[in-house]
Amino acid sequence: MPVRTTDVFANILEKMDTSMNPFVMKLVNAQESGDLLVGFGPKLKSHIGAWRNQFPDMPSTDVTRPLIVEIGCHYGHTIADIAVDHPDALFVGIDITFKRVINTAERAKKLGLKNVLSVLANAGGLEHMFAPGEVNGFVTFFPDPWTKKKHAHNRLYSPKFCEAVWQALSPSGFLWLKTDQRPYFDDALSHAAAQGFEVTQSLPVFSDKDYSSYFMRRFQLMGEPWYGQKWVKPLS
Ligand SMILES: C[S@@+](CC[C@H](N)C(=O)[O-])C[C@H]1O[C@@H](n2cnc3c(N)ncnc32)[C@H](O)[C@@H]1O
Repeated sequence: MPVRTTDVFANILEKMDTSMNPFVMKLVNAQESGDLLVGFGPKLKSHIGAWRNQFPDMPSTDVTRPLIVEIGCHYGHTIADIAVDHPDALFVGIDITFKRVINTAERAKKLGLKNVLSVLANAGGLEHMFAPGEVNGFVTFFPDPWTKKKHAHNRLYSPKFCEAVWQALSPSGFLWLKTDQRPYFDDALSHAAAQGFEVTQSLPVFSDKDYSSYFMRRFQLMGEPWYGQKWVKPLS
């Protein structure tokens, strides 16, 4: 039976035959039962401005907890590593595939992490997901490069994306990119600079600590180069 929604967060559910992908019903059931910390669909609309309240086992009275969002969290390797190191911060992992959203939530559960929420959403609609200033940092490791010119409109980094990140970030919030694609990297640098982001060596919340990812390890094994940049939204 198709799961239908007109919601921007889950337009990928539209016209989907749930019998084709076992992870669809897994996600639906997990959100309903609360067995895994996951989110998708129209329910996410109520999270805008209230993402810090979506972690049932983290006391919501502490409104100062850093809220960090990883876009393209894949199977949850990076977000889990970071969340283990920062038990008082809150993490939202966003991915566009059902399987990866479930896998991320299962990884977090296996590690006993209460501070990781795995969300099915299309980051192309980031501007609709967060209240202004709600987020303290965005992690974007190895976004799909879409190297062909005719596919360039699918790239995560664009002037629109940088503006959405800027709006969602608190003052001194950060944006962190890693990519294996030099042209992608160069474009991202210019979009971020045009938006007003400032390059930094040391990130608020994470300090100087580096984190790897599934794709980063793959490129390292193959001896391929990769490029990284950290930016902050200046205080004024
Ligand atoms: C190349 S993988 C990188 C995964 C991981 N960040 C890493 O470095 O190992 C890109 C990830 O982004 C996800 N993704 C692609 N487009 C997306 C979108 N529009 N919104 C959210 N996630 C997306 C993919 O499903 C995939 O998990």
